[in-house]
Amino acid sequence: MTEHKLAQQYREYWDKGAAVYDEIVDAEFATDKYEQWNAILSNLLSGKKNLNILDVGTGPGFFGVLLSRMGHQVTAIDSSPEMVARAHKNAQKYNCDIKIIKTDIIEYKPEDTFDIIISRNVTWFLYNPVAAYQNWYEMLNDGGQAIIFDANWNLFLSDPQEAELFRKAKEEAIEQGYLPYREEKDIEEGDQLALTLPLTYVRRPGWDSEMLRSIGFNKTHVHQGFDTELYTPGEQVLNRHRPMFAIVAEK
Ligand SMILES: C[S@@+](CC[C@H](N)C(=O)[O-])C[C@H]1O[C@@H](n2cnc3c(N)ncnc32)[C@H](O)[C@@H]1O
Repeated sequence: MTEHKLAQQYREYWDKGAAVYDEIVDAEFATDKYEQWNAILSNLLSGKKNLNILDVGTGPGFFGVLLSRMGHQVTAIDSSPEMVARAHKNAQKYNCDIKIIKTDIIEYKPEDTFDIIISRNVTWFLYNPVAAYQNWYEMLNDGGQAIIFDANWNLFLSDPQEAELFRKAKEEAIEQGYLPYREEKDIEEGDQLALTLPLTYVRRPGWDSEMLRSIGFNKTHVHQGFDTELYTPGEQVLNRHRPMFAIVAEK
């Protein structure tokens, strides 16, 4: 398959963000966020052991490490070399045996199949989400599950009502001590890239649930309301109109 015309720009954007994301993930490992995510994932995986799991867009490897420490066999992929370097560092730091691969999700054609394919805050950035979800379906064992954590992070870029809600929320959040974690120019670059991505223009998780079922997934279930405890008061205000969701789609 020929590479998407913006693929290099997309990778470079995440390469530039890798150090910042690594700090965010370091803080997640060091605080009660680790136990909170551990509880969220254990709950979704219903205490099942030794699953073969693919973490898509692992970034600095937070889910990869967490799932490996829960006793699962983890493969973690990411298209950004700088993120992959951080994922290797964290796997080593936490003494986890994770197969880490630098690849774009659309290119990845493993010989293995998986019980679970999971991702956090990645699908909004997919330039071909339909092809990605079709790949996931092919890579899952029968009865396997795709678990997609994400939010309508960028709907404010395409929907004027959302833009107004977000503007007000941002003002209020800043009053409450919220600090953006990337520099203004990087946020603007992220917004420009988001405008080239299809999921900026649809309302989720409804779009995903419908698409996943049309691809062939048997059941989809959406979980919400788990994110507020993960946020600082400022982040709670900023994100109140774009709560996180977890879609569980079963093959
Ligand atoms: C916001 S970060 C999330 C990282 C990690 N999942 C987490 O929650 O800490 C998004 C990640 O997705 C990766 N990514 C974006 N598009 C990708 C693609 N098409 N194939 C593989 N990785 C991708 C980026 O390189 C980046 O590391």
